[in-house]
Amino acid sequence: MKKVEAIVKPSKLKAIQAGLIAAGIPCMTVVPVKGCGLQKTYAEVYRGTERPLILHSKVLIICVISDENLEKCIDVILDNASEGNVGDGKIFVYDVVDAIRIRNRERGGGAIR
Ligand SMILES: Nc1ncnc2c1ncn2[C@@H]1O[C@H](COP(=O)(O)OP(=O)(O)OP(=O)(O)O)[C@@H](O)[C@H]1O
Ligand SMILES: [Mg+2]
Repeated sequence: MKKVEAIVKPSKLKAIQAGLIAAGIPCMTVVPVKGCGLQKTYAEVYRGTERPLILHSKVLIICVISDENLEKCIDVILDNASEGNVGDGKIFVYDVVDAIRIRNRERGGGAIR
């Protein structure tokens, strides 16, 4: 199992969600977040060391999926999130040790199907 965390522009959320559902990846958690990547995060007009930090509004999409669905999940996010601009977002992939469905105590792959 893998966990995919995608941090994307809020305007891309609907298309990504629709794409994931169409690809057979219907389960996700979505969190509004603020963050900064490598783009300039301060107003350059300010001098000295005290620059106001700017955090950009993004959406964090979390999907826990089978290994088999990983590349499909990444492709859907890339296809729907990319404008080719700085700030388009980033995807992180993690190994997941276990998943447990609380209702029936099902574990592992069965809990995410
Ligand atoms: N290394 C990181 N750790 C944690 N969060 C990150 C990291 N890089 C980016 N993010 C999050 O992803 C959001 C989007 O990042 P962003 O697309 O600006 O990445 P970037 O590396 O600066 O690439 P680009 O040059 O295309 O802008 C950031 O606002 C931040 O919330
Ligand atoms: Mg950036």
